[in-house]
Amino acid sequence: MPELTIRLLETPEDIAAVEKLQGLVWPGSEIEIVPAHVLLTVIHNGGLVIGAFLDGELVGFVFGFPGLEFVPDGPHPKHCSHMMGVHPDHRSRGIGYALKRAQWQMVRHQGLNHVTWTYDPLLSRNAHLNISRLGAVCNFYHRSEYGELRDGLNAGLPTDRFQVDWWINSQRVVRRMGDRARRGFGLDHFLQAGVQALYPVQTGPGGLPRPPEHFTPPGDRLALAEIPSDFHDLKAKDFPLARDWRFFGREVFESIFAAGYLVTDFVFERGGDAPRSFYVLTHGEATLDQ
Ligand SMILES: CC(C)(COP(=O)(O)OP(=O)(O)OC[C@H]1O[C@@H](n2cnc3c(N)ncnc32)[C@H](O)[C@@H]1OP(=O)(O)O)[C@@H](O)C(=O)NCCC(=O)NCCS
Repeated sequence: MPELTIRLLETPEDIAAVEKLQGLVWPGSEIEIVPAHVLLTVIHNGGLVIGAFLDGELVGFVFGFPGLEFVPDGPHPKHCSHMMGVHPDHRSRGIGYALKRAQWQMVRHQGLNHVTWTYDPLLSRNAHLNISRLGAVCNFYHRSEYGELRDGLNAGLPTDRFQVDWWINSQRVVRRMGDRARRGFGLDHFLQAGVQALYPVQTGPGGLPRPPEHFTPPGDRLALAEIPSDFHDLKAKDFPLARDWRFFGREVFESIFAAGYLVTDFVFERGGDAPRSFYVLTHGEATLDQ
């Protein structure tokens, strides 16, 4: 097994490798690549570009910078994590988690306690990593956050995003970053506890999941909201269906956040040929430390 090394990237040579890797992770549009001079300026001003290496080759990076959160009692410092990418051949082997864990250590060392970032709420792998493994929570839904993006992962659909909060000194997060990190609950745990899915998802032609026309807002403190378990695959096979999911997801998450719910967990049921993916929604903030 090649050895994984995680370290800060600081030299122009390191950063040239990040430019190249961005082209592999988000193929098809050079204009979306964050250039070396911006990354180096970020690094020289308190930002962090962290790399993951296998046998000396850069296979992943995470990049962020200090920012401000505007809250009613004034601006508060935070770390804004902007991009994370892992080489397509090396995904789902814990590299993303290892990069975020290094970011967690370094941002804590800078004396900050809040990290935010955005991601597409329909991406199950990202949701599992961000919410279940890292312990981020979310109650912000941004419509078309980045306008039209032209790279191969994003082209064609409105760039709606969740903005997550990662409270890096909270028990919830510290527990997930420890050596004996928490493994998530399964769907059975929630169903046996009486937690209900907000809407049924039927399987349509080609075995692809179809959203219903509408959903009923939850009445209970906890609820489950299903999303496709492989949205990139669904988008490649049936683009109109991907659009339906985008607008259905927008309706669901905007209304449940407005009703006081937060995304607090994520369940990925691997289940062989038919994996399923669910957000866990909690009303209020009572369970944030769990
Ligand atoms: C998002 C990304 C950075 C994650 O990196 P990674 O190295 O694959 O992440 P990890 O392996 O640490 O974690 C992924 C987890 O999702 C799980 N997973 C794999 N497929 C999944 C799916 N369809 N649904 C849910 N979880 C899934 C993996 O098993 C792993 O969980 P585990 O550690 O509990 O087994 C990487 O997939 C990527 O580069 N994606 C494209 C760019 C992108 O979306 N960047 C983020 C926004 S800027």
